[in-house]
Amino acid sequence: MATGDLSAERISSLLRTERFGRALHVYDSVVSTNDLARQLADEGAAEGTAVIAKEQAAGRGRGGRAWLSPPGGLWLSVLLRPTLPVEEWPLLGVVLALASCRAVETVAGLRTGVKWPNDVMVGPRKLGGILVEATPAFAIGGIGLNANLTDAALPDPVGILATSIQMETGRGIDLNVLAAAVLSSSEEYYRRLPAEKASLLAEFRDRSVVLGRRVHITGSASFDGLAEAIDESGALLVRTPAGLQVLRAGEVSIRVAE
Ligand code: BTN
Repeated sequence: MATGDLSAERISSLLRTERFGRALHVYDSVVSTNDLARQLADEGAAEGTAVIAKEQAAGRGRGGRAWLSPPGGLWLSVLLRPTLPVEEWPLLGVVLALASCRAVETVAGLRTGVKWPNDVMVGPRKLGGILVEATPAFAIGGIGLNANLTDAALPDPVGILATSIQMETGRGIDLNVLAAAVLSSSEEYYRRLPAEKASLLAEFRDRSVVLGRRVHITGSASFDGLAEAIDESGALLVRTPAGLQVLRAGEVSIRVAE
């Protein structure tokens, strides 16, 4: 298994980007790559600056959950300075989820889907996730992909089955190649905002593993319904006996009924 050791030099040699990953910081161990990227952003770092760590001591997931980040995964954050109106910033999660799907498909040959708002799925199992943390001036796009992790390294988060590239394909991949692919596809998808918003959302809907399914929602409210549509802001519309509920990323957790 030629999984390679993560190195900034090797990733840079594979990059086909203008800005994403051109400033690249690779660490052995950090608390959270999102924290370091945020620090760099505060110091004035350029858009596309990326931070990657071999492991995170306290990786963060959505909804305040912990994100298990042992060696063997890709734990990456990229600094974004969007010029989009702030109400469209949820689309950042959309583009990073699509970019992550594309990268996993290219590098590992796996067919991936998106569980709203931006979990990267292989069938019913979660292979990765996106955490976008925003300030008024910038956003940090955190991407976590379970790559060379075994079952034992991946306890399932409550109610969700986890998987990895290795578990799905039976072999590991070179993390440098995956990192370069994620940065390249992220730049490509990000550049399509705002002009190609409609086609990005069309791809997001096509990849959805939630649309047309019955879902159970928890969080600020708890209810069941039918995931009917994803609107032009990226919000999920769920039909319930009480009417149509509009769900925005960050507010809720969602479980798809069997
Ligand atoms: C989720 O809950 O699905 C989102 C997980 C996001 C994890 C990534 S790993 C790199 C970055 N740093 C973090 O602490 N979290 C994100």
